[in-house]
Amino acid sequence: MMQDELKQLVAREALTYVRGGIVGVGSGSTVNFFIDALATIKGRIDGAVAASEASAARLRKHGIEVLELNDVSEVPVYVDGADEITERLYMIKGGGGALTREKVVAAVAQKFVCICDASKLVPVLGKFPLPVEVIPMARSHVGRELARRGAEPELRLNYKTDNGNLILDCRGLSIVDPPALESELNQIAGVVTNGIFARRPADVLLLATAEGVRTLGPLPL
Ligand code: A5P
Repeated sequence: MMQDELKQLVAREALTYVRGGIVGVGSGSTVNFFIDALATIKGRIDGAVAASEASAARLRKHGIEVLELNDVSEVPVYVDGADEITERLYMIKGGGGALTREKVVAAVAQKFVCICDASKLVPVLGKFPLPVEVIPMARSHVGRELARRGAEPELRLNYKTDNGNLILDCRGLSIVDPPALESELNQIAGVVTNGIFARRPADVLLLATAEGVRTLGPLPL
């Protein structure tokens, strides 16, 4: 199966977690397939909250109402992809730059369903460069602080997040304790969010493989 077919397969599987109400929608190419699948059951939901302007535009194109997160009291399910994920369902996200809004919607959601193809499952996070969103005037300071912690930060060129900030992509990190590093990096002044999703991991991973979709829950700690 081609990678896009795997993404489509897992995106369709995620529909089984949608039980009406408001659906939280992440961003990225796998989520785009989910949005297309969601359109086929749009009569059964009340609308969506989106983690990026691009996802919001795609939802609207399908005639799905997009609500502001501030106007919504609960998000029963949030569906999003990942750049890397472990068996504990810790993730690196933000390859598409939407990490902050993704983390906020994930924080509100009752259930986080991560949809990936099998290439995203890794034993240790860090091969994928960790995105860190910074406010523009703190770029150099945060870069130095990240370097002090062993990272090789690189400014994402010609890029601004939906929040008007910059992204530093950090190579060279082997993230052995994701919750600890997530907290530590968030303490650097000027960091808006980092792309480690471990303090609020996914609840379910739907992993597309050539043999079909595997469903994984988190390993016990
Ligand atoms: C967007 O900022 C990311 O967090 C995406 O969830 C992640 O990059 C996965 O995207 P793909 O589905 O395109 O691989």
